[in-house]
Order: sequence, then C-alpha cells, then structure tokens
Amino acid sequence: MNIHTIATQPFLDQKPGTSGLRKKVPVFQQRHYLENFVQAIFNSLEDFTGQTLVVGGDGRFYNRQAIQIILKMAAANGFGRVLVGQGGILSTPAASCIIRKNNAFGGIILSASHNPGGPTEDFGIKYNTGNGGPAPEKVTDAIFAASTSLTSYCILEAPDVDLDQIDSFSLGSMTVDVIDAVADYGELMESLFDFPKIRQLLSSGNFRMVMDSLHAVTGPYATAIFEQRLGAAPGTVQNGIPLEDFGGGHPDPNLVYAHDLVEVLFGDNAPDFGAASDGDGDRNMILGCRFFVNPSDSLAILAANATLAPGYKNGIAGVARSMPTSEAVDRVAAKLGIDCYETPTGWKFFGNLMDAGRVTLCGEESFGTGSDHVREKDGLWAVLFWLNILAERGESVEAIVTEHWRTYGRNYYSRHDYEGVDSDRANTLMDQLQAQLPSLKGQTFGSYTVGYADNFSYTDPIDGSVSQNQGVRIGFTDGSRIVFRLSGTGTQGATLRIYLESYEPDAAKQGLDPQVALGEMIEIADTIAQIQALTGRDQPTVIT
Ligand code: G6P
Ligand code: ZN
Repeated sequence: MNIHTIATQPFLDQKPGTSGLRKKVPVFQQRHYLENFVQAIFNSLEDFTGQTLVVGGDGRFYNRQAIQIILKMAAANGFGRVLVGQGGILSTPAASCIIRKNNAFGGIILSASHNPGGPTEDFGIKYNTGNGGPAPEKVTDAIFAASTSLTSYCILEAPDVDLDQIDSFSLGSMTVDVIDAVADYGELMESLFDFPKIRQLLSSGNFRMVMDSLHAVTGPYATAIFEQRLGAAPGTVQNGIPLEDFGGGHPDPNLVYAHDLVEVLFGDNAPDFGAASDGDGDRNMILGCRFFVNPSDSLAILAANATLAPGYKNGIAGVARSMPTSEAVDRVAAKLGIDCYETPTGWKFFGNLMDAGRVTLCGEESFGTGSDHVREKDGLWAVLFWLNILAERGESVEAIVTEHWRTYGRNYYSRHDYEGVDSDRANTLMDQLQAQLPSLKGQTFGSYTVGYADNFSYTDPIDGSVSQNQGVRIGFTDGSRIVFRLSGTGTQGATLRIYLESYEPDAAKQGLDPQVALGEMIEIADTIAQIQALTGRDQPTVIT
C-alpha cells in the first residue's frame, strides 16, 4: 500500500462553528487546507482502526473532490470501511440514519447547509459521532486543538473511486461501499408515518402539494418518496435536481429565499400544501394555501398532534427547543405533562437529551424540526409529519394552526436578521448590550417592563457541561421576549439576529400580522440595542 505522510503546517482558522467548519470554496482549495482539517478530525478520535465511517454531502461545488480526498485519507488512517452515498450525495438526516443503522464509528458530512454554493461560494465539513449527531463541543474543541498543532497528514496514493456506481471498491485495505443514498432513509420514514393514509390523500385528486427542493440535496429523496412511493402527481417536486451551485440561489427555506414556492402558495389557484428544504435537507418550511407556518408554531403543533403518526402513537417523552425559539411548545408540554428543555442554538445540544430518552421531539426557530429517529433535524420528516396530520384530520393547514392558537394562545414571533454587518460593529453592539444587562431589570419601555435581562447560559443536564454567552435575553413582565445573538454559521462579516416574541391568549386578537403585533417590541429592541445607529442599517436583510 502506498501511504504517504505529507508534511504540513497548521492553519489557525479551522475552528468549527455552530455546525462544522464553513469557509469559501477557495479557502478549502488552498493546498493542504481540507487535508489538514480531515487529519485534525482523525487525530482527535481514538480507536477507530477497522471501523466504519459514513461520508456524503449536499452535492455542492467541491463535494466530489473533497470526498475523494477524504476516502484516501480514511484508508491511510486505518478505517476498515466507508459507506458513501451514490454520486457523493447524502442529506444530513440520511447520513445520520446511515451512521445509526450501520453502527458506524461516525461520519463526515460535506455541507454548508443553507449557504449558497459554487466556485466562489461556501463549502463546509462537519463530523458526526456514532449516535448520528453533530459532534458535541468537547469533540469540536479537540478537533480545533488538533488542527493548531498539525505537522503532517496521511493519504493513500490511489486512483479515484467511481462514486456513481453502486458497488464495493477496495482502497488499500479499506472497503468503499457506494450505497443508494435514498433507500435506508425512505424505509425509516415509512416506519414512522402512515404511508397508505398519506398516499390516499395525495392521490385523492382533492389535495395538491408542491415540494421545492431548491436545487439541493432533497430532490432525489423527495421525488422517490412523494412522487414514486406516495403517489403525488409528477412535478410535485420542483427544483428537484441537485446542482453544484443550487441554480445560483440561496438554498434556505424561508419566505425570502424560497420565493418561487411562496409565489405559488400565495398566488391564484394556490395548492393546499407547500414545503421546502435547505441545501443539506435538514431544514424545512411549511406553507398552507396562502398561509405561512412559523417554525416555532410548527414544533408546537407537531408535539400536540404527535400521536396521530404511527411512530409516535404512544406519546412523546419530552420536547426541547433552542432558547430563541418561541415558547409555543412549552405550552403544549405543560398541557401534556411532559418535560420541555431550553437549549442553546445548535442541534448538537439536543443529542444528549435524546440519547438519554428525555425528549422525543426537538425544534428550532431556524426552520429545524426533528425527533429521536435520527440525531439531526430532518426536513422531509417534518413534511411527512405534517402530511400525516393533514391526512388524519382532514382539515386545512390554516385551520389546524388557528385552532391550535385558540387552544393554547398565540406566540407572535418574528426574527430580524442583519446580514453581512461589519464584525467590529456587531461586537460593539453586543458588548454594549451586555454592559446594560445589570441595569435593565425594572426599567419600563412604552407599555412593557423588563422582568429579567441576562446572557443565556446552559448546563447540560446529562453531562453537566456548561455553555455560556449563548445570547442576550430581555424578558418582559407580560411574558414577551427579545433575544439578541450573533449567528454562528455565517462566513462573511457578522449576522445579527433579533428574535421577537409576545403572547396573545385572546382568540379575537390572534389574526394580526406579526410585524404589526410585535411593532412595539421592534421599536424597543432598537431603543435598547441601538441597532440602526450601530449597524448603519435602517432595516433588516431578512425578516421571518
Ligand atoms: C444550523 C444549525 C442549527 C442552528 C442554525 C442557526 O442550521 O444546525 O442548529 O439553529 O444553524 O444558527 P445561527 O448560529 O446561524 O443562528
Ligand atoms: Zn441545513
């Protein structure tokens, strides 16, 4: 075997963020850059000789080249077997499913999620552990530490593997199995949801849906599941062929970036149901006919209706949401008498709770919902869950959501993003907020009085690890909240996120546009944080 040890020097910027290492493609294309990070992953792990690794990505530009490098490095570092999705494709939830199903040691997922792709756009790489979930902070810290002291990496000299053939190949003494990217995942979905019932709905002729894969990874999954298995009309899946640059778009399922879908669902003769997912398939957006379902509400509604799906018919153990996610699900948990956990932003914080059996459903305001069927959030799972509920209840999306509000009250919610803000300005804003925290309690702004103001800190109830500085929270005495944090997933400048929430129990007042209902909160946020003055922007880049 021809294993080379290549001398290298550390790059000092390989610190994984909220979800792995994300950089522009040209950064990854620097000599040794990707190799260094992959070696840092391997150096931070122990006892994997002869074990199985899962590898796949969202198909963005540089996916195939990166996979060839990773395969040769896995072989040189002693893995016994690598499972790789056909064409180098695996959605993030499918990768999680395959890691778990095969008792793999872990997996490497190549994605920058919802960020644009292409030769000058984003690329990303993250490591998932044997439970199928994103590496926890202690692992990512170890990877970063390893990256800063790296002096060499090992790679096998061998021809490239044919990623398009479903087959087994030898790479040195390692086996590479190129597997069907969809099959295992499709089977798992079928075990959770009532496929015959959904099939009845989709083929009834009375129900029309559109699924927008935004030219990203869920195209093949959605076509196989909705059109081939569940009888949805051909063409139900739009933008269903994964493209290396996502067709030049931003593969992020929200009202701004999924504009084609929004036009259809808010246009004349709109279908009954619309959904979209992101670059790597873990996010989702749910729309009804001329109706947007806020992701925080979606989590609450799935929790309240969980027993309608066969996989959850015996009830759910508990729920978890990220701190900035609205408290709508807390109200469902209280009614069901189950625990509700509040964690920092980032799916990795749900892993321990799911492994310990404390929670079944989890969700985030950032268009992420999922359950303990895998250890990632799961876009198509959420779509199927909604379809299962719609098939059982025979009501429209809007009717289900408004009835939910009548029962539990409505948590008006909105997120304002200021993207590409100068990092120094953004840090100044956060520092000034932090400095005000001790004096905010008791202060009155308009009709609101501050009940508490802090920087969120989380102690993991399972392993006791502490994560500090997870976002500034300003809570008002009537239960309204404003949260400020800087995104951990951007690659250019800083993204300031402001999360706004208020609670409305009165059904007669639940029909407002959230921007109107939250108008005073929006002004208070600017008064306290001086957003316009400090960012130099007079409005957010994205409002969801
Ligand atoms: C990724 C993570 C999520 C997180 C989201 C937003 O999608 O998987 O868990 O909520 O990014 O993170 P950000 O730091 O950009 O707000
Ligand atoms: Zn994603």
